[in-house]
Amino acid sequence: MRTLIVTSGPTREFFDPIRFLSNPSTGQMGHAIAQAAVRRGGFQVVFISGPVSQNFTTVDGAKNINVVSTEDMLRVVGENLRAGDILIMAAAPADYKPERKSTVKIKKTENQRINLVPNPDILKAMAEKNRAFTPRATLVGFAAETHDTEKYALGKLADKELDMIFLNDVSKQGAGFGSATNEFTVFFRGGARLELANESKAALGEKIIDCVLSYANEHA
Ligand code: CTP
Repeated sequence: MRTLIVTSGPTREFFDPIRFLSNPSTGQMGHAIAQAAVRRGGFQVVFISGPVSQNFTTVDGAKNINVVSTEDMLRVVGENLRAGDILIMAAAPADYKPERKSTVKIKKTENQRINLVPNPDILKAMAEKNRAFTPRATLVGFAAETHDTEKYALGKLADKELDMIFLNDVSKQGAGFGSATNEFTVFFRGGARLELANESKAALGEKIIDCVLSYANEHA
């Protein structure tokens, strides 16, 4: 059976035992997509989630894997993705991590300078693996942007060698991190585009699965 992987939520990069860098992703959109994929059937759904609230940590009927850091997520995605599979990267992995993690709590009297080093890009790493896959895996990205939205989404579609990218403008009301609703413009490899109007994340989860599966079936 083919595997459909959905990643979800933020990642955390600790710089001491109790403090980390992260972002406000709630994991709600990724969770809705994975639920829709399980309902659709015909795939083993692997749900890989960063630290989020209990409601969005696991999906009934999926293989659930919880991770903390971007490097953990990269490893687990790499272990699960094979030729012909589908990867939907709805997670918001931290792009940078502290160069060093203190083994003890850093005190406020100490010099607070945190040097950051880049994390690996999971989609780019999978795109590289994909070049050796027959048939290719379908790679799906998300882009949450505040400005020059289309330019950045199209840049990511090309740069990460994606099949499609779901762009949302997080500066709009009722879209993005923590909102109950969302809306997307979808850009496909080959130039097609599609608008998904504002509605609940649960309803959009179904439409995202429709979009991904119809593209994957056409290009199988
Ligand atoms: N992504 C990834 N690995 C990372 C960061 C992001 O695979 N280390 C994925 C996200 O899951 C998303 C897509 O890449 O599907 C775009 O993520 P985004 O944060 O918008 O893009 P970045 O490449 O991180 O660029 P920037 O932060 O500069 O906008």
